Amino acid sequence: MTLRRALLPLAVLCAGTGLSAQTIDPLAPTGAWSAYQVGSAQLPPMGWNSWNAFFTEIDEEKLLGSAQRILDTGLAKKGYRFINIDDGWWLKRRTGDGKLIIRADKFPSARMKRGDPSFRPLTDKLHAMGFKAGIYSDLGRNSCSQAYSDGPAQLPEGTMAEREVGLYGHSDQDIRLFFADWGFDAIKVDGCGIRAFTADAERVRSGQYRALSPLIDQHSVTRSNIPAVKALFADINRSLARYNPDGDYMLSLCIWGSANVRSWGKDVGSISRTSDDISPDWGRMLTNYDSAVRRAFYAHPGSWNDPDMLFIGKGDFDANHLTEARSHFALWAMMNAPLLIGADLRTTPQPLLDIFGNAALIAVNQDPAGNQATLAFDSDGLQILVKTLANGDKAVALFNRGLAPVDAVLTADHLKFRADRAVALSNLWTGAKSDFTKETKFHIAPRETVVFRASGTRMLADGLYLSEQPGAVNPAADGVVQPEPDPTIYRSIPGWRGTRGIGERPMYAGWGGAMADATPYNQALTVAGRTYAAGIGILANSRLEVRNAGFARFSAQVGVDDSSLDGEQTVRFYLYGDGKPLASSAPLRRGAAAQPLEADVKGIAVLELVARADGARGNAVPVTWGDAALRR
Ligand code: GLA
Repeated sequence: MTLRRALLPLAVLCAGTGLSAQTIDPLAPTGAWSAYQVGSAQLPPMGWNSWNAFFTEIDEEKLLGSAQRILDTGLAKKGYRFINIDDGWWLKRRTGDGKLIIRADKFPSARMKRGDPSFRPLTDKLHAMGFKAGIYSDLGRNSCSQAYSDGPAQLPEGTMAEREVGLYGHSDQDIRLFFADWGFDAIKVDGCGIRAFTADAERVRSGQYRALSPLIDQHSVTRSNIPAVKALFADINRSLARYNPDGDYMLSLCIWGSANVRSWGKDVGSISRTSDDISPDWGRMLTNYDSAVRRAFYAHPGSWNDPDMLFIGKGDFDANHLTEARSHFALWAMMNAPLLIGADLRTTPQPLLDIFGNAALIAVNQDPAGNQATLAFDSDGLQILVKTLANGDKAVALFNRGLAPVDAVLTADHLKFRADRAVALSNLWTGAKSDFTKETKFHIAPRETVVFRASGTRMLADGLYLSEQPGAVNPAADGVVQPEPDPTIYRSIPGWRGTRGIGERPMYAGWGGAMADATPYNQALTVAGRTYAAGIGILANSRLEVRNAGFARFSAQVGVDDSSLDGEQTVRFYLYGDGKPLASSAPLRRGAAAQPLEADVKGIAVLELVARADGARGNAVPVTWGDAALRR
């Protein structure tokens, strides 16, 4: 190879080879933003889903009853617009032509004078009411209720082949039916069909269902076939684009944090479940919350973390537990989670409707900047979440996870506001106004979440730290070579299994991913003894894409983090603007002082921050983009 050829950019070398620069080198700059942007979820979707209220026993009256209440109570005006049918709607797949047949006894409007049942009258009605309509399917041949439901309630009927209602082998045909023929606007795609129908599963051995060699093992990321799962979603995306020329669709991934989806779901769908199902138990809510709360960089306009639907209305979140119900809602709002009501609204008491209708919290969730909250203070007892809003204000939540009251100190530092200037607070539950300088104290009751909107004088007067704008930062490659289970996620007793078996050991991969104001393993960012309160922690061999909303300068202090186990490995840092090199560092190893990396970025749309380990690598090396910021 001549030197000249060696210096050609990868993109040029790859031209005509059928390979992209990314297949050869995932750290090669692309000048593009690669997270999911198609579809209609520029803001976290809001609406209602049938599952938590009714499980498989859904029917038209129940669905329209809740939809009507959303209109009548004013919740529709506040943004609740999706009405989603979950599992339980299908009767069978007709074997002759593979067409799905609706359970028309439960959806009378689907009965046609001539021809097969159709959901078109129902979606027409929902559209006329101002709603969007969602449907449910599965990646495999069979659905979750077929795998797990206790009784026969509204399970598909007929021969084994007729009961194969999932997308497997029918994905294009079904998506055409759902979107082009029936007029749906959203689809939730579950994954039990590619997980639960092993040859030795009881329902397979008894001859009820056909075996499908699993692609997902929820308890083991190493036993999951990640490329195969991604390929199924790629098919779905192709069909969604084909049958929705207007781009008005929402794809909800439901593989419960398995197969390392917490790291790649953002590239594949509008929302992506980060954990197994929520249940109306405090402990389970904690599990689901924990599965999303440290994933702020993996959520952006168009691609949100989904810790599951709201369970307000039942159990620990019913009208006798307003503190818990309010916490659940506030945390979901702060995390930019979809706000999907899972209650039978026909009978939901007013105090719970008031929670769903809290306009100030809805505004936090729907803030156009799309920044998921990050943890400003972390402990197993109390956490402080801070979310940067489009106008520079902060939403701040003080969350008491436990059963004892906590005296919590909120500081201006937590908000990245100046400690010598007043900070104004507005309580988003009570409307009460207050202010403080430097710090203030709150008594937080057990399981309570106190939430404020805060305005103050920014510490970084002329810009935003990247960790304040996770909605604009995408870890296109996060350096994780072999995904590992995340040990920080609360391990609750699953309601559906109780204490049978050995309990939930750490199982949700994603540990070691990019973190805001912390290393990938949740420690303080520190380079050569100097600690950075703001910055991005990520492993080496990573590439971050950053959208630049009109800023003029980029600056950071870069280095290998002191927490690296490997003291020898050198890492170089590179900054690109719209695919072109802007700045780079010398090779740095642990203990070397951080180096400044700065560039003029005026007019640049996408920056890329690459940390590349030199030569062969041993341990994954945590690196720190200290004080990384975009400035005016
Ligand atoms: C899975 C999903 C739930 C729900 C059920 C339906 O458990 O995670 O959200 O859709 O299937 O059977």
